[in-house]
This record gives sequence, C-alpha cells and structure tokens, in this order.
Amino acid sequence: MTVLPCQLGAPRPGWARDADIVVIGSGIAGLATVLHARAAVPGGRVLLVTKARLDEGSTRWAQGGIAAALAPEDSPDDHLTDTLVAGVGLCDVDAVRILVTEGPARVRELADLGASFDRDDSAGGFALTREGGHLRNRVVHAGGDATGLEVERALIAALRADPGVEVIEHALVLDLLLDADGNAAGVTLHVLGEGTTDGVGAVTARAVVLATGGMGQVFASTTNPPVSTGDGVALALRAGAIVTDLEFVQFHPTALWLAGTGGDAAPGPSDPVSGQQPLVSEAMRGEGARLVDATGGAVMAGVHPLADLAPRDVVAKQMSRVMAAQGVDHLYLDARGLGRSTLLRRFPTITARCRAAGVDPVSMPIPVAPAAHYASGGVWTDSWGRTSVPGLYACGEVACTGVHGANRLASNSLLEGLVFAARIATDLARGLPTPARPADPVVGRGSAGLADPVARADLARAMAAGAGVLRSA
Ligand code: SIN
Repeated sequence: MTVLPCQLGAPRPGWARDADIVVIGSGIAGLATVLHARAAVPGGRVLLVTKARLDEGSTRWAQGGIAAALAPEDSPDDHLTDTLVAGVGLCDVDAVRILVTEGPARVRELADLGASFDRDDSAGGFALTREGGHLRNRVVHAGGDATGLEVERALIAALRADPGVEVIEHALVLDLLLDADGNAAGVTLHVLGEGTTDGVGAVTARAVVLATGGMGQVFASTTNPPVSTGDGVALALRAGAIVTDLEFVQFHPTALWLAGTGGDAAPGPSDPVSGQQPLVSEAMRGEGARLVDATGGAVMAGVHPLADLAPRDVVAKQMSRVMAAQGVDHLYLDARGLGRSTLLRRFPTITARCRAAGVDPVSMPIPVAPAAHYASGGVWTDSWGRTSVPGLYACGEVACTGVHGANRLASNSLLEGLVFAARIATDLARGLPTPARPADPVVGRGSAGLADPVARADLARAMAAGAGVLRSA
C-alpha cells in the first residue's frame, strides 16, 4: 500500500506574515474571491499569493467565454438542462441550480467592474455565441476570442486599485498549516525571486482559499499553461481534505496540432517542454467550422444529434476513434466557410496563432487533436466553497462543487469561479474562525519533495497513454 506523505520536506520558514484571509492563486477564482472578500469583510486583511506573476494563470488563455442565461429567449432552467446533459448524469443538481441562477448577475457585475465584453443589440447588449452542448446562444465573449485576457485585465485592475490587498508573486504553496483542533490556520510557501520575501515562509490566517487552478500539465499534451500542476489538490490531499472525481479530466477536442514540437506557450516565448498546445476555441464550431479528416470526410456526421456541437467528451472520443482507425495523430477543423472577415473579427487570436504556425485558417483547414483541458473533479466543497477541513475553502478549477459532473459544459468554468467566489465571501462574512496557534510547521515534517523533472516527463507520457481520452473499465 502506498502511504501519501502528509507534508512536503522543506526548510524551517525564514519569514512570516499574518492575514485574515489568504487566497492561493490569481486566475478568475482567486481574483474574484479577493475582491468579494474585501467587500464582504470590511477591514479584512487579504493576502493573495500566486505561483508565477499575477497574470500567468489559466484564465488568460480562456477563449470562448462565460456561459450565462442572458438572452430574453433563454432561462436558467434551460442552462441547467444543458449542464446536466453534458455532465452525463453526475452533476449535483442543487449546485448547478446555484450556478445558472446566480450566474447572470455575476456576469453583469463583471461588466460593471470594467470588463469590456463584445456587444450587439440583443441580450441586454451582450453579443452571445454558442459552444458544444448548448442548445442556445449564451456565451459572452470579449475581444472576439480573448475573453480570459480581458476578464483577467479587469479583475487585476480592480485589485491593484485596492491598497488593502497584499500580493506575493512567485510563491509556490507548500502545505496547509493546521491548528491543534484540525482547523486551517495558514500555509507554508516557497518564494523564488525578488521582493520583500524570499525562500520558505509561513503565512498564518483565519481562512485559506485554494484557487490554484487545474492539473493539465500531468498530461503530455494540454491546453493548460506551465503553472497548472495540480498543486492545490496535492496540498489538500496531504492535509487530509476530501478530493473527488479526479478521473473526470476533460479533453478539449481542438488544440492546434503542432507537428513534433510537444506544444508551446504562445503568445509568450515558445516553451517546447511545457506541452502546452494553443487552444482553437469551440466557438469556431459554434460559428460554423466543421471537423473533417484528411480526405474532407465529416468526423461528427451521424454520431450525435448536435454533430460538431455535441458535448466535448463525445467529440473528443469520436475524434480519437477516427484517429486510431485511420492511424493518424491529428484531424482538421475546416473554418474556411466563415470567411476572412469573420475569422479576423471573431477569432483574431486563433487566426494569428495559426498563421504563426504556418496555417492560414482563411485558406486551409486547421490541424487539430484533443488535449487535456480541464479537471472537472478536485477538492470537494459544499455550496459555500467549504472543504472538509474547517477554514479551508476551494474555488474554481481546483474545487469540485459538483456543477460539472463527469464533463463540464463549455464556458461554465469562468462562471463557476465567479459564482462560488461570491458565495465564499458571503460565508467568510458570517464570521471568520479564530484558529488556535498553528502547529509548528517543522514538527512532523515529511520527507517528500517535488517530483524530479525526469519523472514528470515519464508521468505525463504514462497519463496520456493510460488515462487519456479513450479508457477501458
Ligand atoms: C473554448 O473556447 O473552446 C474553451 C472554452 C471552455 O473551456 O469552456
């Protein structure tokens, strides 16, 4: 039997901070939690720690948008139905009802905060598109296909305007600190780089919010950035929190297939070891692009009533079956029918990225293959974001609130971050716990360390081969 370590090996903390609330992670979930907590807990000292720079999480890579029932002909009930169908019967219906009912108000708040969404004359001014599994147009977007970047910009601007929030960047979270009664009492961190802190330190706090994102980097090919290594789930496991549904990894059907490069980290500098593949948004299929094989044969014909807009798991599995049957490692997304002006207006990021790889979507089908995209499971929480460890919360991709079931509905992820961040803040406002002094972080320290980079590459290959899109019982 393998016994999981309960703490990482680390030197004694050389610096210390105290806060009321410490939030780990700076994607939409972490940023929104900080902003809501500052509003809900007057005078609360909030510390945000993040593993790289503030803007280097997964949120900036989100293309498609945020799903919410904003159109006059749409309703939270319709959104609920589509979410449950995509989740293959394994969603928590009450959690989904919260998501779809509270979602529209959270999206409007984000627009009021300054996020500049694409507009037209319908749906209260929001231009709405469709993605896989949605029976209505309900996906809000920004900059055509740069929704995450704009959302992140608006949230960071709001956070920077609040002098009451302290931010520590380049801080890898190590372990949860627990008090003698088993309540969360802070975290240990390893800060790499310049600033007011360096090396291993301890932050004591009355509540800890995990918003560390996903774990796509566990796979050889992923749309996730290099920081998405499952740190929050690992911390929660070591702390004895319940984690659930980890097998429900979502594979995005259309990552740009970069022959033999192992991915890159565009639009930043190329990083051939990260395995990050550029995303080609499902919204392209929402606007009419079609999946085809090398001979132009339709991949999704006759497979599902929604064809190319079937839920993601259905599309990724069909693509993998076709690829295996034809002995090929990629298929094609034919977006030529959209025309040059639509491609440039609606999908400027994707068009530019494809062109940089030598593929012009205006005149050529785009080579694509499925890649690990989203962890539908994670650290178990209730409907207020509370984990099974008192004082420890989880929000966004690291959490398993039950809204995604076995397969997340497209563009429900940014929405989940917004909705549950607000609910966590509401719960924090009911009264912050006062943990007893945390146990000495050195006492009982484990000997486990971070995975060797060589082992990481083997692990990623093994996960792709053994826990990829098509699985046996
Ligand atoms: C996409 O734009 O296809 C991705 C959106 C999502 O992951 O929900």
